Parts: sequence; C-alpha cells; structure tokens
Amino acid sequence: MTQASRTALVTGTTAGIGRAVALELAANGIEVIAHGRDTERGSQLVKEIAAQGGTARFVAADLVDADEVLALADAAGDVDILVNNAGVYEFAPTAATSVDSFDRHIAVNTRAPFLLVGALAPRMAERGHGAVINISATAATSPAPVGAVYGASKAALEILTRSWATEFSPSGVRVNAVSPGPTRTAGTTAMLGENIELLGKANLRGTIGEPEEIAKVVQFLVNTDSSYINGTVIVANGGDPTLLPG
Ligand SMILES: NC(=O)c1ccc[n+]([C@@H]2O[C@H](COP(=O)([O-])OP(=O)(O)OC[C@H]3O[C@@H](n4cnc5c(N)ncnc54)[C@H](OP(=O)(O)O)[C@@H]3O)[C@@H](O)[C@H]2O)c1
Repeated sequence: MTQASRTALVTGTTAGIGRAVALELAANGIEVIAHGRDTERGSQLVKEIAAQGGTARFVAADLVDADEVLALADAAGDVDILVNNAGVYEFAPTAATSVDSFDRHIAVNTRAPFLLVGALAPRMAERGHGAVINISATAATSPAPVGAVYGASKAALEILTRSWATEFSPSGVRVNAVSPGPTRTAGTTAMLGENIELLGKANLRGTIGEPEEIAKVVQFLVNTDSSYINGTVIVANGGDPTLLPG
C-alpha cells in the first residue's frame, strides 16, 4: 500500500501534539481525519493542511461521552492509522481530585482509545494492515505526588498498547505508543505560563520538547521504516537525568 492512499484518524488535533501530528502526517501524503472539540481551530487546521497541498477533514466529538466517541469512529469510516492523542492532565493530589476529574481522565485518556480501537482496529485487521499509535506520558511509569489519576489513565493505555499488539498484530496491525517528556503545547503553556521552560531543565538535553519532535516519532511509527517495532513504548524525552552518574 502506498503512503498516498492511507487515511489517519488523529484525536485532539486542535492544539499541541495532535495538531503537529496531523500536519506531519498530511505533509507525508496521508489523508487526515482531524478531531477535537473546537470546530473553529479544527477548520483552521483543515485549511492549513489544504494550503500545504494535503487533505483533511474535521470531526468534532467530546471524548468524555462514549456515544460521541462511537459516532466519531463511524464518521471516520475505514482508516489505516489511528493516533489516540487527545488527553487531559489535571495535576492534583489524590484528596483534591474530584469524581468528575477522575472520570474525565479515564474517559478521555483510556476509554476513548479503547472504544476507538474496538471500532476501527478489527476493520484494519480485516484489510490486513494498519497502525495504532497511543500517546502516553512519563506519568505512566514515574510516580509523582500529584496527578496519580493521570498516571493511572496512561499506565492503563500502555498495557492496552501491549494487549492490542497481541490481539491485532497477527492480522498485520502494529500497535505502539509514544511517551513524550514535557512538551511545549497549549495545555502545558496554560498550566505553567512563563515557567514552561523550566520543564526542559529536567532532561539531559536541557530544553523542553516541541510538538513537531513528537510528531516525527509518530510519523516513523506509522511508516514501514518501523516495521519491526511493535507492542512497545517509544520514549521521546530528551534523555533521563538519572542516567547521569550520581
Ligand atoms: N504536553 C506535554 O508535555 C505532554 C507530555 C506527555 C504526554 N502528553 C500527552 O500528549 C497528548 C496531547 O497533549 P497536549 O499537551 O498536546 O494537549 P493540549 O495542548 O492540552 O491539547 C489537548 C487536545 O486534546 C483535545 N481534548 C481534550 N479533552 C478533550 C475531550 N474531552 N474531547 C475531545 N478532545 C479533547 C483538545 O481538544 P479541544 O482543544 O478542541 O477541546 C486538544 O486538541 C495528551 O494525551 C497528553 O497526555 C503531553
């Protein structure tokens, strides 16, 4: 199958990493179904992709609502690539995490990917090819005193990644995850403002990640160049500072 004939559903493309992924895949000839909630930013992205010679359409859905997730899968139709990127991160101590916040993390970060894979991956398997990329986070594997539910929602996504690889790879569908370190996005900027640059100090490179750097990893994983990579989590974080001699 040629790259030009492929279609990708990317969730959460109205900002940050998802937007960069949509632009990167489109620049590589992949038709993008761009998702988010904000229709204005969604249609701006579609216009931007068209101006660069790519093809995209936007589908709005609130991933907190399971029916909207399933409607998104229907609207996407047959896709060759699914990038589960949309996510929420509300860093609070456990006692200050509301029921709504708990449910929102699980619904958006874990259940929505689960429902989208359930709806779309069997159809990829029937056609004998496909790629699923889940965007995880350092919090999935590194405990922290705030954001326990965020970490739990992403840890679940990582075991789902490995489970889905066993389930769908025999039919030609590879399933992988990318775990970004702190990355400059709308979400992290809203949270940290001018302090965002400090996030870069926590990695060996010494600077924060850019969304385009994560998008390049996703592009590699949906390519045949990564054909031997399957059921794993690629870490893109500038380097773990604990590697330094103590
Ligand atoms: N940035 C980082 O440092 C970092 C590090 C590790 C992992 N990640 C992961 O990378 C992914 C993207 O993060 P980001 O920083 O790029 O996020 P962001 O700038 O906050 O953008 C979040 C995206 O997800 C969408 N979204 C949020 N809640 C949604 C909902 N209920 N229904 C539908 N769409 C929803 C937003 O859509 P609307 O704006 O249209 O509502 C937006 O497109 C997330 O899964 C995050 O956990 C980020």
